[in-house]
Amino acid sequence: MDSRISARALASALGGWRTREPAYEALADGIRLLCLDNRVAPRTTLPAERELAAVLHLSRSTVAAAYRSLRETGHIASLRGSGSVTLPLGRREPGRAVAFDGMIDLQQASPPAWPGLAGVMAEVAATAPALVARVGYDVLGRIELRRAIAERYTRRGIPTEPGEVLVTTGAQSAIHLIASVLIGRGDRVLVETPTYPHAVDALRRAGARLVGVPVTTDDGWDLDRAEQAFARTLPVMAYLMPDFQNPTGRSMTSREREALLLAGERAGSVLVLDETTADLDIDRPPLAAGFDRSEPGTVVRIGSLGKTVWGGLRVGWVRAEGDLIRRLVAARPAHDLGTPEFEQAVATNLVERFEDVIGQRAALLGEGRDALVGVVRERLPTWRVPEVHGGVSLWIELDAPLSSGLVMAARAEGVLLSAGARFSIEGGHDRHLRVPFTAPPADLVRAIDVLAGSWTTVRAGAPAGVVERAGAVV
Ligand SMILES: Cc1ncc(COP(=O)(O)O)c(C=O)c1O
Repeated sequence: MDSRISARALASALGGWRTREPAYEALADGIRLLCLDNRVAPRTTLPAERELAAVLHLSRSTVAAAYRSLRETGHIASLRGSGSVTLPLGRREPGRAVAFDGMIDLQQASPPAWPGLAGVMAEVAATAPALVARVGYDVLGRIELRRAIAERYTRRGIPTEPGEVLVTTGAQSAIHLIASVLIGRGDRVLVETPTYPHAVDALRRAGARLVGVPVTTDDGWDLDRAEQAFARTLPVMAYLMPDFQNPTGRSMTSREREALLLAGERAGSVLVLDETTADLDIDRPPLAAGFDRSEPGTVVRIGSLGKTVWGGLRVGWVRAEGDLIRRLVAARPAHDLGTPEFEQAVATNLVERFEDVIGQRAALLGEGRDALVGVVRERLPTWRVPEVHGGVSLWIELDAPLSSGLVMAARAEGVLLSAGARFSIEGGHDRHLRVPFTAPPADLVRAIDVLAGSWTTVRAGAPAGVVERAGAVV
């Protein structure tokens, strides 16, 4: 046993678990999904039956039956004296992150590699003798790449010097490094909800207490809540995605950018803007980058080639004042000893011809989005499909809060998705499903066919109150 999860934390992570009858099977499914999403790690001790029953307002026999079901499917083992402990997922588990042949994996919203990438890699490979002559441990990033990144920011209207850029092994590594430098245990950090789950994991590991600000596909950022949260909790940091927010696909208006910058400055917070998806513009009207005219040190930007070029390249960066860059460089060796030279050389070449790269991405993502919107509207007309102009996914509103039940049912049919709750910080979003449009259109059509079948079954099996209450609210 490595760790334990309290009854309260498990109940919060479960969110709207009551997706079908009998209740004990719905509860067991909810816990299975948490294991499959790695939100409850293997070898975690679950709460005692009595404690979980009290928090969920269930009888102890219902929880006992759920644990029995989990034992039968190999998700937990119950040992005398140690309680019930989650087990590593079995190889045949349909929800494993690795998809088997014939499965459609929509858990990650990542487009295929930019078609010119292999050619660029071959060109760079031809310069291998010069590359291997370098020292190789590069915690700051090679000057040619930092200069190319700085020039691109400057062209976007954000004047930048190479000394204000640090190259990392992807945006995730940048988030983790920034969190470890800026956050102390118990510090408040403001995040959007829904948000990008791996950022939440990194912030929590750094000790952050998260404060959520709602973002919706229809109304964008809840500025009243945001202003109150900044003023009341004085967060040390806010983690925001202004452009094509993951998962909603929404972009901040100029007014939202200005209001959040002002509220952050008043609270003395550092605003960390994750722009990993910012260049994935399909057909958005022109919009200034915003967050300018800020006090020095208020705004930190994170970028990446993960979605624009290829997730496997593992090159990202931080743009910040020189002082913070120096602190990040000093802290970095505890995490990793630099970004690989080969990948940096490839990235330099790509950033220099970035307009070609993003032109191809707009066409690819536009095709995926149109195919997905069309097939969802046709096959699932009761779902609300938002209008998005870029990014990687649709944050679809279902006509009942049964996202987790749907994801479990679809997994059994070979379609892997993440339920709405995966993108929340404290449970909820059970009425939403993130569907990436990064897969080939034919796969998207096949996946929605499966979802349409599963949705009929999941709705039919849901407790009457869940579906009817949902109908009244819509
Ligand atoms: C908003 C956001 N930030 C960061 C990342 C991680 O990016 P990278 O692959 O560069 O680590 C992702 C990837 O899904 C993302 O969507």
